[in-house]
Amino acid sequence: MEWIDAYLDERKKQHLLRTLKPLRPAGPGRVYINDVEYLNFSSNDYLGLAGHPRLREESQKALNEYGTSSSASRLMSGDLSIHHQLEEMIADFMGKEKAILFGSGYLANIGLISALCDRKDVIFSDRLNHASIVDGIRLSGARFFRFRHNDLNHLETLIKKERKRYKKALIVTESLFSMDGDMASVKEMVELKERYDALFMLDEAHAVGVIGEKGAGLAEKYGLTKKIDIIMGTFGKALGSYGAYAAASARLIDYCINRVRSFIYSTALPPSVTGASIGGIKMLTEEPARRSILLEKAKYFRSLLKENHLNIMGNAQIVPVLVGENYNALNISNRLYENAIFALAMRPPTVPAGKARIRFSITCNHSEDDLKKAADVLKHAFKQIPISK
Ligand SMILES: Cc1ncc(COP(=O)(O)O)c(C=O)c1O
Repeated sequence: MEWIDAYLDERKKQHLLRTLKPLRPAGPGRVYINDVEYLNFSSNDYLGLAGHPRLREESQKALNEYGTSSSASRLMSGDLSIHHQLEEMIADFMGKEKAILFGSGYLANIGLISALCDRKDVIFSDRLNHASIVDGIRLSGARFFRFRHNDLNHLETLIKKERKRYKKALIVTESLFSMDGDMASVKEMVELKERYDALFMLDEAHAVGVIGEKGAGLAEKYGLTKKIDIIMGTFGKALGSYGAYAAASARLIDYCINRVRSFIYSTALPPSVTGASIGGIKMLTEEPARRSILLEKAKYFRSLLKENHLNIMGNAQIVPVLVGENYNALNISNRLYENAIFALAMRPPTVPAGKARIRFSITCNHSEDDLKKAADVLKHAFKQIPISK
């Protein structure tokens, strides 16, 4: 067991040791940690739907009708009609022929990518893509190339050089980047995909519910849903539930049902969770104003930070504040914590080395006063801590 001690000691020395903190909800935008109330800026409940009466009601209805578990995988006896109901809603909402559900976004990405590509294929992946995309690529056995973050010239150079040596090609990117808060140039990527005969997969985990007129994501915002081969998204963030989906052509989804191992060999989503996801999708059309309120709040928070000349990244509801060194990021996060603000330091390997940051997730549940308080405490925390450039 010495290797475990050595690993944990090293993590600690590098200010990279992770620990768990049990939380309890404490009203809109707040959590209790050890019975102390904190403003929560680390949740992805962007629209404030987790715990909303509408979602609880749909979840309860499904629980009452179907029980607590689906008790088997979809291809065994776990294929419930409520799963089909949600898949039809998703396909319709995303403007695709068909959709498929997954136990989580992680399972969706590892399963989809490893079913689409194999050793004879090539994958072009944004350098900052989420770990689940990276793991899916590794699992596929395909040759892969990472292009500099959202750098279309680099992407095209790589495709030009490598595409012809492989059978299939896949371009994969997040749409709204979870750690940088910025958005992929999807229009240009669609052009590249068409020009070089590649598949294009878009991970809309942080964009669904927030971006686009209907809240269907970045593909919807640019009218590109039909041109993107696979649109993947999760229910565990803005949609206030849990699980994930992929929307695509009917043929591609039929292929997934037959080929994606994380779909085939895993118990289907529980009914109560599926019900909550149905509630989440319904809320996007029933209360569209939540999206604009959220984005207004994020804009306001960004303006407060800009006044203080902080190095903020991106342009949406995810507001990362660049710090640099792990140690300094941790210190700032601790200073926020001492002031009842829960905003975590993001460190490698979640972000590149030397680019540690504090990540604020703005939600509909934060009031103007909450945002002012957070900006103020952050300003003072930065002043007190020597930041090495
Ligand atoms: C871009 C992205 N894709 C996929 C996932 C995985 O989704 P899930 O949390 O449902 O496993 C996440 C979650 O953090 C994510 O940020």
